[in-house]
Amino acid sequence: MIRIQQLTKQYGATRAVDGLTFDVEPGKVTGFLGPNGAGKSTTMRIVMGLDHPTSGTATINGKPYADLHSPLREVGALLDPGAMHPGRTGRAHLRIAARSNGLPISRVDEVIEHVGLGPAARRRIKGYSLGMRQRLGIAAALLGDPQVLLFDEPVNGLDVEGVRWIRDVLRGFADEGRTVLVSSHLMSEMQLIADRVVVIGRGTLIADADVGDILRGPDQRRIRVRSPEADALAAALHEGGQVEHTRPGELVVTGMTATEVGDIAHALRFPLYHLAEIEQSLEHAYLALTADSVEYAVGGPSTSAEGETR
Ligand SMILES: Nc1ncnc2c1ncn2[C@@H]1O[C@H](COP(=O)(O)OP(=O)(O)OP(=O)(O)O)[C@@H](O)[C@H]1O
Ligand SMILES: [Mg+2]
Repeated sequence: MIRIQQLTKQYGATRAVDGLTFDVEPGKVTGFLGPNGAGKSTTMRIVMGLDHPTSGTATINGKPYADLHSPLREVGALLDPGAMHPGRTGRAHLRIAARSNGLPISRVDEVIEHVGLGPAARRRIKGYSLGMRQRLGIAAALLGDPQVLLFDEPVNGLDVEGVRWIRDVLRGFADEGRTVLVSSHLMSEMQLIADRVVVIGRGTLIADADVGDILRGPDQRRIRVRSPEADALAAALHEGGQVEHTRPGELVVTGMTATEVGDIAHALRFPLYHLAEIEQSLEHAYLALTADSVEYAVGGPSTSAEGETR
């Protein structure tokens, strides 16, 4: 289990992490989401002892990284797949890591097998594709067979097969009861992988909830309705919710249930050709949650109040 409590990290004038508190529980894949610059990588680096918090704590199984007796046996991370010596073979990279951490060398071939690196393990890292580097990085994270795993954007640049592979690997870890924290900007992927999500913006917590609950959130519910009397129906629905005209004869209603929309249409004797709740996407929910926290938006910085979250 990873526990982040009142974590703050200041870099000069930049507050990268600002009083962040959340737990990452075992047996689940927890997605770590937030706009560029939100503080995800900084938080992960602090958990891994690569950076010091300005205040607050980050612990793994109750201890800060620096106090772990045998760190690689407790936690593994893929943070920056570029940070490997290009002239070494993948196998040599793993052997050095194993030796310097007192892990049995036999683990090297096991993890090479586990990540499917195969014969490429005997080639120099400089000739690796991005996907091969990601696999090697994951192999290194697994060396000590740790119960806690952190992955910073592991699907970045991977091909379709690679993305599926990562999905299966993370799912497998969680099903074995391990703790898995994974950051990504790919919401469709996160919707498939994550059981839970922690959303941050400008270093502060925006949401910490089960993916199912986020998708079912009451203010996220949208109803699609089609009627030849769409305009008149829209006028009647305006009282209860927000109504958007999506195409001729079609409305999308927010803030009402399908039953309420149907009852109003029935009372006014408007024919309905379609009435259904729109299946919620994590992307839609995420955009609504982070609308006020986007620092690097298309078309310039967000004009919303500084630090405002919901
Ligand atoms: N070593 C550093 N020195 C100075 N500022 C830093 C440093 N590392 C991160 N920052 C700043 O801290 C903030 C958070 O950065 P961080 O990399 O943690 O964000 P992120 O959520 O991982 O973003 P992305 O999605 O783009 O990877 C940014 O404003 C960044 O510029
Ligand atoms: Mg990052």
